[in-house]
Amino acid sequence: MKKISVLGLGYIGLPTACMLANCGFEVLGVDIDEEIINKLNSGKLHIEERDLEEIFLKVLADNKLRVSNKVEKSDVYIIAVPTPLNKSNKADLSYVVSASEMIKDFVTKENLIILESTSPPGTTRNIVGDIISKKNDLIAGEGYYLAYCPERVLPGKIIYEIVNNDRVIGGINKKSAEFAREIYSGFVKGNIYLTTLETSEFVKIAENTYRDVNIAFANELSEICNDYNINIWDVIKYANMHPRVNILNPGPGVGGHCISIDPWFILENIKKKNTLIEKCRNINNSIPHVIAKRILNIIDGIRNPKVTIFGVAYKENVGDTRESPAVVINNELMKRGIRVSIYDPLVINTKYNLSGLEDSVDGSDLILLFSGHSVFKEIDLVSVSDLMRNRNIFDTRNFFNKETVEKLGFNYYNI
Ligand SMILES: NC(=O)c1ccc[n+]([C@@H]2O[C@H](COP(=O)([O-])OP(=O)(O)OC[C@H]3O[C@@H](n4cnc5c(N)ncnc54)[C@H](O)[C@@H]3O)[C@@H](O)[C@H]2O)c1
Repeated sequence: MKKISVLGLGYIGLPTACMLANCGFEVLGVDIDEEIINKLNSGKLHIEERDLEEIFLKVLADNKLRVSNKVEKSDVYIIAVPTPLNKSNKADLSYVVSASEMIKDFVTKENLIILESTSPPGTTRNIVGDIISKKNDLIAGEGYYLAYCPERVLPGKIIYEIVNNDRVIGGINKKSAEFAREIYSGFVKGNIYLTTLETSEFVKIAENTYRDVNIAFANELSEICNDYNINIWDVIKYANMHPRVNILNPGPGVGGHCISIDPWFILENIKKKNTLIEKCRNINNSIPHVIAKRILNIIDGIRNPKVTIFGVAYKENVGDTRESPAVVINNELMKRGIRVSIYDPLVINTKYNLSGLEDSVDGSDLILLFSGHSVFKEIDLVSVSDLMRNRNIFDTRNFFNKETVEKLGFNYYNI
């Protein structure tokens, strides 16, 4: 049975390592973060993800998965390290470089290297491939195999989607793509399509860019609807009844490790200026500032106001705060001397200062519903309203029922 090293044990690498181990491969999970390794070795997860714990504990107990901060000689190396944006909106590929450097001494003939990290087109060939080939005097596709296999999973539903989603695998040649397909077909039930390296890299970022552009369109429609005094949510509901229309939801901004970042990867090495993609990115980036301004208008005139943010996670039902626009809104308000408290029961291990429900609403003048976590549906708004100084709810996700909260004495604001 083949031995596989998975580098990077985050939201993508850890579930991937677990699923590969669960279908029989001998898997070594590698991470440079000692704390993560210690936690995992003591049987605890460092991320919240539905259904992950059960599989993780099983493969750990079966000795199918080991975790370490050191790479070992393997047959297959999968790289799932972060690819954040740097300050100039370019991909920071330093983690991809460091992971490639970590494996280069171990790679021998017939090994397969797969990059999973979302990356600008050309990264697998020109960064990973070059580092491995230079060190070993091997030609990618001949001496060793090289492939790119992007992830399309939805945080909060990763275990289901990692198995059931279709995949697009790019190879530096056909044999590389086929070898990668052989590995993933151990647990993937969706279709697996094979193509070139650069096509598969582009497919991934095009998918997320499609969503970003669609959300920017929804956000713009929402502003225009304000001018016409028309409810945007009704417009989208009825428009989407058309069989070929699918407008996404407007919201308080776009966050997370994917949609808010990947469009910049498309723009990274192109000659075209003034692209639609960049305009949409800028529209979505401006939204949290627009939300902060509306909050300031609502609480204008209140002495020493306090705002409560429900949810700092970038979207519903996850504990991930990366690139969360809630942080931008929080900072904008605090810059203007507003007291802000955040309640998010899903977020753990965070640098943000979170409060319990009662403390967060005590003496508050406005609740901003930022993340539409299902658990927020269970909040007793009567007790909440008793604790508040002024009863305002600004619902950025069309989450609460307007009539219900108004009956409880709240002023209800929507986007
Ligand atoms: N999270 C998602 O939903 C999602 C979905 C699709 C694609 N992706 C992409 O997958 C990649 C990984 O994302 P993630 O969310 O898992 O990131 P993450 O931050 O959750 O995890 C990455 C891990 O890699 C580790 N790491 C960094 N350098 C390393 C190295 N040289 N060797 C070993 N470990 C190293 C970090 O310590 C961290 O634990 C990114 O490119 C991301 O864009 C993420």
